[in-house]
Formats: sequence, structure tokens, C-alpha cells
Amino acid sequence: MLKFLKAGLLGAAVVSVAWSAQAADVADGENVFRKCAACHSVGEGAKSRVGPHLNDLFGRQAGTIDGFKYSAAMVAAGEGGIVWDEQTLTQYLVKPRDFVKGSRMAFAGLRKSADVANVIEYLKTFDEKMASTVGQEQPAEEEVETAMAETPALAADVPLPEHDGQFKLGRVATEDEIAAWDMDVRPDGLGLPVGSGTVADGEVLYTDNCAVCHGDFGEAVGRWPVLAGGQGTLEDDRPEKTIGSYWPYLSTVYDYVRRAMPFGNARSLSDDDVYAITAYLLYLNDVVDDEEFELSNENFTDIHLPNEDNFIEDDRLEEAHYADKKEACMTDCKPAPVEITMRARVLDVTPDSDEEGAGGEID
Ligand code: HEC
Ligand code: HEC
Repeated sequence: MLKFLKAGLLGAAVVSVAWSAQAADVADGENVFRKCAACHSVGEGAKSRVGPHLNDLFGRQAGTIDGFKYSAAMVAAGEGGIVWDEQTLTQYLVKPRDFVKGSRMAFAGLRKSADVANVIEYLKTFDEKMASTVGQEQPAEEEVETAMAETPALAADVPLPEHDGQFKLGRVATEDEIAAWDMDVRPDGLGLPVGSGTVADGEVLYTDNCAVCHGDFGEAVGRWPVLAGGQGTLEDDRPEKTIGSYWPYLSTVYDYVRRAMPFGNARSLSDDDVYAITAYLLYLNDVVDDEEFELSNENFTDIHLPNEDNFIEDDRLEEAHYADKKEACMTDCKPAPVEITMRARVLDVTPDSDEEGAGGEID
């Protein structure tokens, strides 16, 4: 509300720059109108396009051409009393979005007051009531200034368009849509669907859906990922990181398999299938040893993977940040000159190309 008032005064201040007492020029105005013509049309048969048509503009309450979709701001401005005449047009055309906050007119405004006067003069020729006045003298500078300061249209009680922080794009997602996306499972069990499955059921499902890549016992075919074994290898030069040797939480297994596997046919398994396969993966990793064991949302968080305790809460926030450590060394930090002690080739991280298995079996 206040914004309209302020904008009006601002408009008045800006516009009072340099009114000449000269008659505005229709031909010049036609030239100026080229800037408007991308969006507005005038003359016989003029239709609303990007902007409303501008025939018979004078005396028109702002935002009232039938069938044109104005911004809520423009409609509110009209309802608040803005009627297009020389004064209101002048203010609007100098700074459209200051005069009508929220106007959808994507036009920065006319910088020269002569352009403003001329285009208004040109628009008059398309207004039956005004056509006869075209070419008459403009009022002198002072009169205009006073007239503008008194413009009543920007009364403080013009309501701002209502909005609730939404941009009116798209629509609210349905509960089903949200549920389809909101499927993550947390270590504390939050997000687990209701369901269950046994090791024995899981073995059948695994053999059908997973073994072709991950091997009958999770040992992997070729270079597909290994899913079982590797316990006790974490400190080796080549640790084998699997669900049983490395992963901290069972929830990751459930979440990952449900979301991403079988590779190439993700989300084809039911929630119960995923419980059964997860149970079987526990069995392959010697976390459970009973084929009748049934995993469900009820006992899920009772299961702990062997390596859980080696994961710690991220405590880096408690450490001093390197940037806060005084006097970081930036040059010649190593006392002795740098020496090359080993080459990757020797370390065997870049195996010779003719060595067996070096190229991998996945294309
Ligand atoms: C990029 C497109 C575009 C340009 C360029 C443009 N306008 Fe607009 N104009 C619009 C739109 C869109 C609206 C409706 C604004 C709203 O609803 O907030 C509008 C609204 C108006 C209105 C209010 C009409 C009514 O029915 O209330 C006037 C007057 C106007 N423009 C004049 C001009 C003039 C004069 C020029 C050139 C100096 C111009 N416009 C340049 C798109 C444009
Ligand atoms: C067509 C081959 C293929 C099939 C079939 C397949 N996977 Fe996978 N799996 C992969 C690939 C490839 C990755 C690695 C994906 C990546 O890293 O982006 C993977 C990764 C995994 C991982 C993570 C391994 C790790 O340590 O990072 C698990 C767990 C897994 N798959 C389980 C399954 C289960 C359970 C099934 C059967 C329901 C299955 N996969 C079927 C190819 C397959």
C-alpha cells in the first residue's frame, strides 16, 4: 500500500525534469512506439498480444481490457483508482514497475521526457475522445509538477495483490507422488516400509535377479561388485570392501537395493522381495546363519553389521579449521628437496596391458 504511494511520488519527481512547452510530436511518437510495438498494437482491428491493445486508452481504468490476462498488480492498481490519462501514463512509462509494483510489463521505461510526451501524443490519435486535442500545447513545467504531486490515484489504501509466497506455477504434488519419491531409509529405521522376507525366499530371488552379476555367493562375476566376504581385509594393501566387511548400516543395503537394483531393472522388486534379498545378503556375509531367519521392519534395527563401530560421528566441526590455523606454510614447506621414491608402474596400479585381467571384463 505504502509502496504505491511512494512509487507515485518517485514517478512525479523523475518526470518533472524537462517538460518543454512545445507541442508534442505525433510523428516522433510513432517512432517511439516502435519500442512498444513488440507487445502492443494500436489502430484498426488492434488486438491484445503480449500486452493489451492500446486503442481508446484515455479514461480506461488500468487493467480492464476484457480477455487480457493482467498481473494481479495491474488489476489492483485499476481497482485502487488508477485511470490512464496524461499524468498516469507519464508516470507509468518512465518507470513501469515503480508506478505499478509487480506490473508484468517487461519494459524498463522511457528515459527521455520528450519520448514520453510524444508517444502519449501518438496514442491519443487512436483514442476517439482525444484525437481532436492532438497537437495542442502542453501545459508548462510547473503546472505538470503540481498536477502530478496531487495525483490521487496512488492512494494509500490501494491493496497490494495478495500472495502467500507461492509463485502459482505447477500444482501441489499429490500424496502418492510424494510417497513415490520419499523412499529413503535411515539407519534408525525411519522410512522402512512394512514388510518381511526370509533368507530362503531371498536365495531364490537373488539367484534369479542378482547372481548373474554378483555371483551365486556374492563373490561377483568378473568385475561386477563383490557383495560378500572380505572380513578382516580392511587393513590390507587391497582391502575388499563389502557389505559384511565394510558397510556400517544395514539400512544402506535395503535402501540401495530397493532404489537401484537389479542393475538395469531398478524398482522392479516388491518391498517384501527386498527384505528377503537383504536377509540373504546377511546370510552370505555370515551375519545371520539360519535359513529360516526372517527380516522385517520390526527386527531390522536389531541387526548390526560387523564394521559399524569403526564409523564415527563426523567431528570435523570440533577440530580447528585449517584456515584458522595461524601462519599456514605456503612455500618451501618441506625442508629437504622432493624426491621420487616409487613409480605407479612399479606399485602395480597401472598394470601392463598384456597382463591378464588388466582390461577388465566390463565393456
Ligand atoms: C515486452 C512487452 C511490452 C513492451 C515493450 C511494452 N509493454 Fe506495455 N504492457 C505490457 C504488458 C504485459 C502489460 C500488462 C501489464 C500487467 O498486467 O501488469 C502492459 C500494460 C501497459 C499499459 C496498461 C494498459 C491497461 O490496459 O491497463 C499501458 C498503458 C502500456 N502497457 C503502455 C506501453 C507503452 C506506451 C509502451 C512503449 C513505450 C509499452 N507499454 C511497452 C507489455 C509491454
Ligand atoms: C546387470 C548386472 C547387475 C545385476 C543383475 C545386479 N547388480 Fe547390483 N550392481 C551392479 C553394478 C554395476 C553395481 C555398481 C553400481 C554403481 O557403483 O553405480 C552394483 C552395485 C550393487 C551393490 C552395491 C555394492 C557396493 O559395494 O557398492 C549392491 C548391494 C547390489 N548391487 C545388490 C544387487 C542385488 C541385491 C541385485 C539383485 C536384486 C543386483 N545387485 C543385481 C550390477 C548388477
